[in-house]
Amino acid sequence: MRNVIIRGLVAFGVAVAALLAHAAHAEGMQADVHGLVVPEQLDAADRASALYIDRCASCHDHPQNNIPPRASLAYRSPEAIQYALAEGVMKPMAKDLRPDDIEALVVLLSGRKPRPLPDPMSAACKTPAAPLVVADQDWSNNGGSHTNTRFRDYGWLTADTAPRLRLAWSFGYPGGAGGPAVLGGDRVFLPAGFGFVLSLDAESGCVRWAFRRPGRVVRSLVIAGPTGGQAHPAVYFGDDLAWVTALDAVTGEQLWQVRVDDNVLSRITGSPSVHEGKVLVPLSSIEDPMTHVASHTCCTSRGGLVALDAGTGKILWKNLHITQALRDLPPEGPDAPSVRGPAGAATYVPLAIDERRGLVYASTAEEYGRFDAAGPYSVVAYEMATGKRRWAQQFLPVGAEREAACHAIGETDCRNVFSMGTAPLIHTFPDGRQLLLAGQKWGYVYAMDPDDGGRVIWRSKVAAGGDMGGVIYGLASDGERIYVPVSDVDAKESGRAGSLLALDPATGKTLWHRDGPVPQCSWTHEGCTAAQVAALSVVPGAVFGGYNDGWLRAFSTRDGAPLFSFDTARGYETVNGVPARGGQVSGYPVVIGRKALFVTSGASSVERPGNALLVFKAEQP
Ligand code: HEC
Repeated sequence: MRNVIIRGLVAFGVAVAALLAHAAHAEGMQADVHGLVVPEQLDAADRASALYIDRCASCHDHPQNNIPPRASLAYRSPEAIQYALAEGVMKPMAKDLRPDDIEALVVLLSGRKPRPLPDPMSAACKTPAAPLVVADQDWSNNGGSHTNTRFRDYGWLTADTAPRLRLAWSFGYPGGAGGPAVLGGDRVFLPAGFGFVLSLDAESGCVRWAFRRPGRVVRSLVIAGPTGGQAHPAVYFGDDLAWVTALDAVTGEQLWQVRVDDNVLSRITGSPSVHEGKVLVPLSSIEDPMTHVASHTCCTSRGGLVALDAGTGKILWKNLHITQALRDLPPEGPDAPSVRGPAGAATYVPLAIDERRGLVYASTAEEYGRFDAAGPYSVVAYEMATGKRRWAQQFLPVGAEREAACHAIGETDCRNVFSMGTAPLIHTFPDGRQLLLAGQKWGYVYAMDPDDGGRVIWRSKVAAGGDMGGVIYGLASDGERIYVPVSDVDAKESGRAGSLLALDPATGKTLWHRDGPVPQCSWTHEGCTAAQVAALSVVPGAVFGGYNDGWLRAFSTRDGAPLFSFDTARGYETVNGVPARGGQVSGYPVVIGRKALFVTSGASSVERPGNALLVFKAEQP
């Protein structure tokens, strides 16, 4: 046993850690004194720092191959880290550690205590389910459909009924909201904390099954099928270690599980799509925030797109958006780290499926270095049958335009801002012609010709732009207009953050523009903004958006007049007995069902996370 003893040390954090490291080093890592690994009199945080240095730093502070760098562990959930140490791959490294030491390490690495494992089946349904039938029109993934228009006309929800929406019931996601609901037949499917995926009855919220993938973070799902000889429809999802899993949607049993990328920083956050027996999965990465970590040799992970056989999980084809070979650049100075690349071009939003042309489109985010590679800042089109790249359109301004943009935004590291942050949207005109649209964090919306290699037909500047948009996550279209949510979260002028526009799809001209609302965060007065960092959804006459101040708001599609608003950021009693708290309505769109609207509050929230699924119905007049 490696023992290090330090008596009567009254210091904390890094100082202790450094001393311990020094002591351990000085004694050749094998001092065998009085059996104390770390002094008992240290408080939990100091013990954790010391334990980290003693047991973890040799690998996680010097990451190679598949060792996740320490900074990347902060993006895992506390429950996932606890699982890794107590039961999972890191169990040998945590040998002989007490539960409170493990907990202290979890807090050190993730910033939060792990929560106790709940039992979602305590709210199990008491009545048997009807056969599950998934219809084409069901809101089956986060794009709402293959075209990402996020438009639904089920009759019950319109401009007339939107003002009469009332909260019908709420459900507490166990362990936090992983992401939004998807709908299939009479059921709701949810990704929750602790690696849970749940199936609920859409009418009552009782739980049909709970599947758990311990130690993983799951954010988005797709429900489809049955395909490829399956007995029932299936739920597919990716996770933060780039595995894709298929579950039987009726029983919750696992059908298959496949790892689709072996880069330790790759992950899957966007919801997959299913088309003609293929599961199409967008590949993303956690290396983006790591680009600012000095100890990290940046960068190697690449976004891409994987097609799997829905029946077996076999990888049919895989493309990374960047195809150039990885290479090293010399460090920029004597103390600067070496640089590797090109990397980046993550896809974290849903794909668009173009059935007419047999293509799948992916929006790609920034390059992590400065290799000026092809692939990032783009919309890329691949043939669904073969995976062959058909075309790519890059939206990175060059020369003076880029310099002016970076100057205007006032960022020293001006890269992220040119990311294509929205899912591509396929708009169909009444005469059948089509346009492909995508929004950029820089504040532009682009319209492309899908029959002409993505040639840009118009571009429209709708927002100032910034790291969190500009325009991010998702436009919407009802066939008549294109609706654009504006983030501009850092804007100083009132009314800029969270503004909303309707564009003419033929020309890109603004048909109407509505200033962002006065922000009303129930939890704070400082730094509160009403930015829209979420995709829009639209029904006949009304467009719905989620806001960073925790509100859900709906506006008239005709002129932007307000129709409905609801502050989601509060506590709820729930049908499953798990107390729920709302937060920011961010990242994801509201989900339109055949009889109800499903709103997830607190997923993907930076300042105010939560775990509330809120189900709204229209009251009779
Ligand atoms: C000998 C090298 C080594 C040491 C020491 C080490 N780790 Fe790891 N750690 C790894 C590797 C390699 C992986 C990736 C494992 C994989 O993906 O299969 C990993 C993965 C992890 C993960 C992610 C687990 C997951 O679910 O994929 C966590 C969390 C973690 N380590 C925490 C720690 C902590 C805390 C310590 C100290 C108590 C520690 N590690 C010590 C090498 C190490």
